[in-house]
Amino acid sequence: MMPIRRDLSFELPSDKMLSWHPAGPHMAHFYNTLSIFFPVGERFFIDSVRHYRDQGMVKDERLLQAVRAFIGQEAMHGREHEAYNAAYTEAGVPADRMEKLVDIILRGVQRIFPRSYQLGGTIALEHFTATLAHVLLDTPEMLDGADPHFEAIWRWHALEETEHKAVAYDVFREVYKDKKLRGYANRVVTMFLATVIFWSLCYPFYIYNVARTGGLFKLKGWWTAARYQFLKPGALRRMLPLYLDYFRPGFHPWDHDNRHFLEGVEALAEQYNRKAA
Ligand SMILES: [Fe+2]
Ligand SMILES: [Fe+2]
Repeated sequence: MMPIRRDLSFELPSDKMLSWHPAGPHMAHFYNTLSIFFPVGERFFIDSVRHYRDQGMVKDERLLQAVRAFIGQEAMHGREHEAYNAAYTEAGVPADRMEKLVDIILRGVQRIFPRSYQLGGTIALEHFTATLAHVLLDTPEMLDGADPHFEAIWRWHALEETEHKAVAYDVFREVYKDKKLRGYANRVVTMFLATVIFWSLCYPFYIYNVARTGGLFKLKGWWTAARYQFLKPGALRRMLPLYLDYFRPGFHPWDHDNRHFLEGVEALAEQYNRKAA
């Protein structure tokens, strides 16, 4: 699987920022809050992978090409989610300040942890996004009835996360090719840390953002969102087995072959091509 950088633009209607999801504003806020993490998170991923590429650790020509495409894709995701987050800030939540806080934390991680653990954190979070992407693509009702621009940006991001899900992982395998046990220890520790850090930021941000726009005491909205996340379609419940597979010692992202989702990617790319817009 060779990823392709696609320069797309989604022109999200900013007046629909809180109403774009059919399950209501509590669910729109959930997706919007996830978006806050992408631009700075993806810069962190690019830095981690690029470091080892520049060190000459990646020798295989195809993997080098995949790394270039990975960097290109993540840069495009960062740019489009930056626009998404700016519109979210305009809708009355402090998404810009939350982004800053995530940035400060990730810079702290870059100062404290060795490069090998930064790459470990990258593959952990790449697995996390690939898992979320799989569930999103495999469960069409998750975005059924959503505003088409918002649906398109989430589908595009999910498709490209699927396309490049093994790139950082393959770089990690190169780094640890003669130290498999240490590589496994790195994976377990960094997945644990990434999970704890991510959710302990994500849910407080999410609840705060709902509160800022007047939804804190709207219990029906919370119930709908909780049902959506954990029961039906149960986005997070569906993610759990895929997430746990990561702890298998011989795990590789393409053990779970879901490339059939990519059949629709070029049609979507054509529709939202930035140059054609
Ligand atoms: Fe991405
Ligand atoms: Fe990614």
